Amino acid sequence: MPTTNDLPKMFPPQFAWGVATSAFQIEGAAYEDGKGESIWDTFCREPGVIADASNGDVACDHYHRLESDLDLIASLGVDLYRFSVSWPRVQPLGEGAWNEKGLQFYERLVDGLIARGIAPHLTLNHWDLPQALQDKGGWNSRDTVHRFVDYALGIQRRLGSRLAAITTHNEPWVVAWLGHHEGTFAPGIKSRKIATQVSHHLLLSHGLALRALREAGATAQLGIVLNMAHQMPLTDSAEDLAACKLDDARGRRWYADPLFKGAYPAEVIAELGDDAPVIEPGDMEIIATPMDYLGINYYSRALSKASGPLTEADKPCPRTDMGWEIYPDGLRDLLLVLHDDYDLPATYITENGGAFPDATTDGRVHDADRTDYLLTHINAVGEALAAGVPMAGYMVWSLMDNFEWASGYAKRFGIVHVDYDTLERTPKDSALWYRDLVAACRARRTTGA
Ligand code: FCB
Repeated sequence: MPTTNDLPKMFPPQFAWGVATSAFQIEGAAYEDGKGESIWDTFCREPGVIADASNGDVACDHYHRLESDLDLIASLGVDLYRFSVSWPRVQPLGEGAWNEKGLQFYERLVDGLIARGIAPHLTLNHWDLPQALQDKGGWNSRDTVHRFVDYALGIQRRLGSRLAAITTHNEPWVVAWLGHHEGTFAPGIKSRKIATQVSHHLLLSHGLALRALREAGATAQLGIVLNMAHQMPLTDSAEDLAACKLDDARGRRWYADPLFKGAYPAEVIAELGDDAPVIEPGDMEIIATPMDYLGINYYSRALSKASGPLTEADKPCPRTDMGWEIYPDGLRDLLLVLHDDYDLPATYITENGGAFPDATTDGRVHDADRTDYLLTHINAVGEALAAGVPMAGYMVWSLMDNFEWASGYAKRFGIVHVDYDTLERTPKDSALWYRDLVAACRARRTTGA
């Protein structure tokens, strides 16, 4: 078991430390200052889709608490802050008119970060598509690809020169698969054919946006964020190994192969048959436009079993409150697989963290399980670095407890506790631990120790 003291010397001085959030999960102010509706506003109104029947109307009220939240981020001593822009807040219909008040909010956010010495890492699409675009077909429509490029250029014009990084999409797999195949996330569609077309349009819009942003003179680092589990066979039987290979192609490689090799995995295209996406000439070259960085969100491993569904007994590791197995070695091994398969640019862990059932005692949250989770996973990143993976930074999910999508507010991922009655923020023990770790890593920058 690694200890906290082992960590700082595993990371080079320039390695960047951060915390992450997304707009819909924290902002609230869902119907204020000219914001348009997002697909998540609409989805939350459908009975039964959100575990606690909650929504993002107030969330953490970050929209009204911007200055104190910026101070909170600064109190952690981090190098960067990863946040997302709510597209319908800045362009209510997803095309046409811009909403000045929305743009001013993100301007205050970016300027406030810079004033505090924190690098702004902006994500364009963390899932909250304008409902007006969904009404015209959403990500299933090729036209949305072009609306997204215009949106990216609008953000570039207003904020671009002040940003350290722009991420096009957060976790396209979630948008495509959970949103359009399983239907458990907005917009709640259940069609494999639509889901694969959506995944293609997301990747295409990423490539086109990268090209347009570069032409517009973007100085920020440009990239995408993919969610990945480390895929493992349940046993070493030939059947489970084959199942694992196919699951890995359906998940990790469906997104990473086009981005780095310009082609979808042939075995998945074959398996999809008529459900394979429509791909126009030139699309794959656009998708493979070189990136400045890759972001990986890692939470757990995923097991493959050839016969029958996985049972609870198949998952022996301790779990988080989401029921996800805690498996830090998977993070190191995943990074090694990616390094083997692709010519990786600078790579960031853009999300990593755990939901645990926190209890507040005497105004403190003693979340030793979360600190252990972070410690062991940061150690895994250090091991990947030592093995030659070009790791550039690590971001905790999340800065604070927030709206965890279909799970509502019951699952707490924050290193800062949020009391949803008073909206008061209280740094948990894990936040204080992370602050001290970042300080120890920063100290090595000046002493070179
Ligand atoms: C990721 C999402 C993020 C958060 C974490 C727990 O899939 O990007 O918004 O919900 O999971």
